[in-house]
Amino acid sequence: MSNLDLVLKNGTVFFKSKQEITDIGVKNGKITDIGNLNAANEIIDCSNLFIFPGLIDTQCHFREPGGEHKETLETGTKAAALGGIVGIFEMPNTNPLTVTPEAMTFKLERANQTSYVDYAFYFGGTAQNSSNLNEWENLKGVCGIKIFMGSSNGSLLSSTDEEIDKILANGNRVVAVHAEDEAMMNKNKISILGKSNDVAMHHLWRSEESCFNATKRVVTIAKKYNRKVHILHLTTAQEIEFLRHHKDVASLEVLPNHLTLSAPECYEKLGTLAQQNPPIREKHHQDSLWKAINDGTIDILGSDHAPHTLEEKGGIYPDTPSGTPGVQTMLPIMLNHVSEGKLSYEKIVDLLAYGPLKIHKIKNKCEIKVGNDGDFTIVDPNMTHIISNSEQASKSGWTPYDNKKVKGFPVMTIIRGDKIMQDGELLSHHIGEEIQFNLN
Ligand code: DOR
Repeated sequence: MSNLDLVLKNGTVFFKSKQEITDIGVKNGKITDIGNLNAANEIIDCSNLFIFPGLIDTQCHFREPGGEHKETLETGTKAAALGGIVGIFEMPNTNPLTVTPEAMTFKLERANQTSYVDYAFYFGGTAQNSSNLNEWENLKGVCGIKIFMGSSNGSLLSSTDEEIDKILANGNRVVAVHAEDEAMMNKNKISILGKSNDVAMHHLWRSEESCFNATKRVVTIAKKYNRKVHILHLTTAQEIEFLRHHKDVASLEVLPNHLTLSAPECYEKLGTLAQQNPPIREKHHQDSLWKAINDGTIDILGSDHAPHTLEEKGGIYPDTPSGTPGVQTMLPIMLNHVSEGKLSYEKIVDLLAYGPLKIHKIKNKCEIKVGNDGDFTIVDPNMTHIISNSEQASKSGWTPYDNKKVKGFPVMTIIRGDKIMQDGELLSHHIGEEIQFNLN
């Protein structure tokens, strides 16, 4: 046993069905031993710490190529490592869009050279590329197909049933859906927003009905083909109630922002820094998201890390871009919710490890067991920390949680046995590898 590379000693280990204070041994990047272990090249004392399986953020926008002034794969994954995240899925609304194998290859090569954490990429689905999707969805490094039913940031859009039908008809991987109804929003923008420059109108014209309608439409098409759809960033009580009854085809994602901030206060306090799509809504919607988290309806939590510079956010609404950074703050914000009694630590692991494992069929990760990658997110449940703009690694340089005090904080990020982050310091650079999937 003396030939182990790393032993994590005396931590509270979160196994799938129990927690136990024990030791974990890693050799050549894999978990090889669990039990009382005393000899290794490096032994880390994890007394009083929680050892989670390495947590994955399945919704990040890192802007490379085309928006490198906001974020790159390097800066975005640095933020992930600091936030206790071992792997990310990145979105296709870059410029050019990730809708061809060439665009996918570009991202994989850049990530291979610069990523701090493991990675996979969504392939953008459009009516134009739909006939190739059954082949392209299985390319290396692809975690699934992403469609936008309503315009958000970038030009990726499949707003009609005909377009969505073509995409869902041809393939097997999960289709992640930005469900806002383009036609309804276009009408609302004229009739509800009009000439207003008030960001507090954001959730009124990007309405709850628009989300609900888009969700119902895509689920109807998914049923026709028995195709799995993953409805991203849910914001409304109506969608949750509807989707509860359609989990045969639909999985559900929510974001920390929608669980933490609510309208109208968020717009009064943060202005356009709270502008994102789908919007942050009133408290009763947030309450229904929390209920769905705790009754097991929600499958995955994602940050929807969507950085824009403060200069861009400082423009005049509605010409300001939607989105907030979040990959670095997601886990701290959720740990703080545990300290406030809103959910359990087990539920965080469920939403950020077992959810991604189940929905995306990730290979050799997301669970602490012999044979899996030695990926760990290590958390001090008692540490308090004040989140600040200055510590954000994102190029955008800000967070909606600036100055917020949280209890519970990630203190180590370990990927395939390599210590990437310890106590807020980045230790290993650019070791990220492509995440693998069980496709059969
Ligand atoms: O607010 C958002 N911003 N929602 C999205 O779906 C896209 C994202 C972005 O890329 O900025």
